[in-house]
Amino acid sequence: MEHTITNYFESDEKFHELYPMPVTALASRHWSPLEVSHKAAAFLATHKGVRILDIGCGVGKFCLSAAHYAPNATFYGVEQRKRLLEYAENAKDVLQVENVHFLHANFTQLDFKHYDHFYFFNSFYENLGVADKIDDSIDFSEGLFNHYNRMLYYQLKQKPKGTRIVTYHSMEDEIPPDYYVVKTVSGNLFKCWQKV
Ligand SMILES: C[S@@+](CC[C@H](N)C(=O)[O-])C[C@H]1O[C@@H](n2cnc3c(N)ncnc32)[C@H](O)[C@@H]1O
Repeated sequence: MEHTITNYFESDEKFHELYPMPVTALASRHWSPLEVSHKAAAFLATHKGVRILDIGCGVGKFCLSAAHYAPNATFYGVEQRKRLLEYAENAKDVLQVENVHFLHANFTQLDFKHYDHFYFFNSFYENLGVADKIDDSIDFSEGLFNHYNRMLYYQLKQKPKGTRIVTYHSMEDEIPPDYYVVKTVSGNLFKCWQKV
């Protein structure tokens, strides 16, 4: 019998075949395009064994694709919605990637000292009630938006010189002033930052 190996990294559409249809329908607004993961991985994977945290990993699209593009780095994804992590773990099983770990938690429960660099795709924006929501399983409020931004700012402020973060569609409230922009792509939508 002939076996064909699916190349899930051929296109975003192909990658979305890892997920059920309702998850794919959310992709254009909520999951990072492969091209973005590729560029972010190139900036964040500074050395062998580097630990990179995706703050709000959703169904794991960034972590799983970045892990493919940067096999010497380890990617951690933290996500508050358990249902999304089930999709992430299923996709991980299909792809058989070793260098990705998913954590079910609010990012505020993590200690950032365990991670070297970070990826952030505007995860708190749903709290402003202006974007399509992923679902109604969590609470949303402007107060939470401000609280999460402050917590992330505080955590990033504690990190040593050289710490990197990639932001995608960020409002930048979470970035302390001692991080400078190394490069931008797609206008200002995608920014690579490093702490001085
Ligand atoms: C825009 S999606 C990005 C998904 C993924 N990073 C990617 O690029 O494909 C943001 C995710 O962050 C999660 N999120 C929002 N606030 C969070 C928090 N405080 N702690 C953990 N996850 C959070 C949401 O549930 C959502 O799945």
